[in-house]
Amino acid sequence: MAGLREQSSFPWLMRLGRTKHPSCYGMKPSEGHGVQARCSAVDREEGPDLSVTVNGLKLPNPFLIASGPPGTNYTVMKRAFDEGWGGVIAKTVSLDSEKVVNVTPRYAKLKAWAPAGTKSEVIGWENIELISDRPFETMLAELQQLKKEYPDRILVASIMEEYHRASWEEIIERVEATGVDALEINLGCAHGKMGAVMGQDCVLLEEVCGWINAKASVPIWAKMTPNVTDITQPARTALLAGCEGIAAINTIMGVMGINLDTLRPEPCVEGYSIPGGYSSKAIRPIALAKVMSIAQMMKAEFPGSDFSLSGIGGVETGNDAAEFILLGANTVQVCTGVMLHGYGHVKSLCKDLQAFMSKHGFTSIEDFRGASLDYFTTHADLVKRQKEAVEKKQKLRKGLASDKDWTGEGLTKETEGMVSN
Ligand SMILES: Cc1cc2nc3c(=O)[nH]c(=O)nc-3n(C[C@H](O)[C@H](O)[C@H](O)COP(=O)(O)O)c2cc1C
Repeated sequence: MAGLREQSSFPWLMRLGRTKHPSCYGMKPSEGHGVQARCSAVDREEGPDLSVTVNGLKLPNPFLIASGPPGTNYTVMKRAFDEGWGGVIAKTVSLDSEKVVNVTPRYAKLKAWAPAGTKSEVIGWENIELISDRPFETMLAELQQLKKEYPDRILVASIMEEYHRASWEEIIERVEATGVDALEINLGCAHGKMGAVMGQDCVLLEEVCGWINAKASVPIWAKMTPNVTDITQPARTALLAGCEGIAAINTIMGVMGINLDTLRPEPCVEGYSIPGGYSSKAIRPIALAKVMSIAQMMKAEFPGSDFSLSGIGGVETGNDAAEFILLGANTVQVCTGVMLHGYGHVKSLCKDLQAFMSKHGFTSIEDFRGASLDYFTTHADLVKRQKEAVEKKQKLRKGLASDKDWTGEGLTKETEGMVSN
């Protein structure tokens, strides 16, 4: 697998006879046609440069609204652009919204313990929300309107369809016609059946990604479900099938809890519930681990490629984002954090990230992207390193190890050996 890119830069391209924009194949913006226009600068804050370029698309900062309630209609997406988000990924759409029926309540919160009289912090969030229940045509019109008003900003549509080639081709054609810059394919909400099935079955995934990439002319980001044993397998499959980027993670399947008075699970709809998708702060360590393994796989198996990686899961501060970037993410997406703190929160995300960069003397995101990946190793290597360090310390240790070692004969020398200089 490692040498695959050396044999032919884009083997799947030749196989599929695709027509994507040159920038989608990881060319530098100057090599593509018209990419510069899409990349025109958006007002930049003072301080280290937060701008990033992924798959030929230039973002003023690495923060994207993740697909979900914060990207559900024209009004909220416009607000996100106005507040300065680097890009917006709209709520997932499918061709037939009539199949999508949402229930209420559909959210449940996990709060941290807090002393009496103080506000407890939300650390976990569960949803049993489906993809967008708004008419497809309405969403198309709104995406088109947003691209008209914000031509230089990055707007990504999130799409999901059934296992049916013609449906994928139709949705891609119609969504691309709105002028969106890229497509994210939703391969798995924890509780919805459609995407999760594809994201958990690499054979199906390869076939569907093949259809998608044969049709699409904008970059495709495959959004991974974490509800698999080894997330590198679907990520690798998606890249080999022609996707330009990986986004990880979607929500983790969870049961938020049981009401101990009613004995019913939460969120409770007419006395019943289903396992839902868990998000927010509590999932960050799991998301970091998944992003780390995808980044390691990309580095080992596709060296020098321009595949992109978008880190998602529990981001609420600029430092959280820095951690994802240190593990190889080009961009960072936020969903629950926006629901909790609002759209204006992007300003503090940018400020905090810049403060982290200034502290280390980093002037751009690329200066530190992936820098922490080399510090992951095997447990056997940790044992070896610790043994060597102890031996080195022992060699350097001055003086006697124990009082029983005083000799009397060499008392003055032994005393001198334990004096600090
Ligand atoms: C209420 C809610 C609805 C969501 N809907 C979608 C969706 O339509 N499509 C999708 O790809 N991800 C959806 N997600 C998943 C988020 O985009 C994100 O991957 C996940 O919540 C983890 O990030 P977070 O901790 O920042 O929320 C949804 C998440 C939440 C909380």
